[in-house]
Amino acid sequence: MSTGTSNCVFYSSIVILLLTSIALTGYLIRDTVLVINSPRFPEFRVDSLSISNLSYTYPNFSVSGNWNARFSVQNPNKKFSISYDLVQSTLVYEPKSSHVYEPEFISEIGIPDFNQSMRKETFIDAAFAVSDAYRSMSLGYINVDSTVSFVVKFLGRIKFKDGRGRLVKDYWGREALKVHCEGLVVSLASSHSASGASISGKLVEPRDCKIL
Ligand SMILES: *[C@@H]1O[C@H](CO)[C@@H](O)[C@H](O)[C@H]1NC(C)=O
Ligand SMILES: *[C@@H]1O[C@H](CO)[C@@H](O)[C@H](O)[C@H]1NC(C)=O
Ligand SMILES: *[C@@H]1O[C@H](CO)[C@@H](O)[C@H](O)[C@H]1NC(C)=O
Repeated sequence: MSTGTSNCVFYSSIVILLLTSIALTGYLIRDTVLVINSPRFPEFRVDSLSISNLSYTYPNFSVSGNWNARFSVQNPNKKFSISYDLVQSTLVYEPKSSHVYEPEFISEIGIPDFNQSMRKETFIDAAFAVSDAYRSMSLGYINVDSTVSFVVKFLGRIKFKDGRGRLVKDYWGREALKVHCEGLVVSLASSHSASGASISGKLVEPRDCKIL
């Protein structure tokens, strides 16, 4: 092999290397721009959860009570507004030892649709209630003056729109928004009113929710 040929091979390798890196940088920039410009999911937080009028009837473990919750929903996007259609909001009791007791459904409600402009925070008040409903043993074993834990789940359709109101992304069906607010620890106390003794409780601290 002459020096000329090996020089030629050397320079063409350099050129190929350069072109490859330019192309890679291009893809990287394009992907970064795509990520920055695509809508981000809203952020959910539980600010309060209070229990009132909670009572049990033995021996049939019938439960009555009210769970009042306040959620904050934040749109983190500067360029997109969001429409919410939260079709399902579920309250679940989360037993301390999940090996012994299964998480237990308590109540399900619907939340009115709402729209949210860019960067806005919206507060949702949700009132879950059960009245003389049969629930299995786990919920019947709650001790007053202790803490218990709940989970709230949201399922719904959300649409992102740009500044001109054009639809950018629509998440529904299998892609629907799923939010889990876990570890909502409530401290309980007994309360007495005209209607008799019952249990009441307050959320120990606000919790951020997970988007699944
Ligand atoms: C709790 O029960 C009392 C008496 O029955 C009633 O006045 C009150 O409105 C109830 N609280 C809630 C949050 O429903
Ligand atoms: C949300 O906005 C859409 C149009 O962008 C409108 O049709 C709808 O009624 C609004 N929903 C609420 C709850 O305001
Ligand atoms: C549970 O027992 C109480 C008192 O005996 C009764 O009033 C109530 O209807 C029963 N509830 C269920 C769901 O069986």
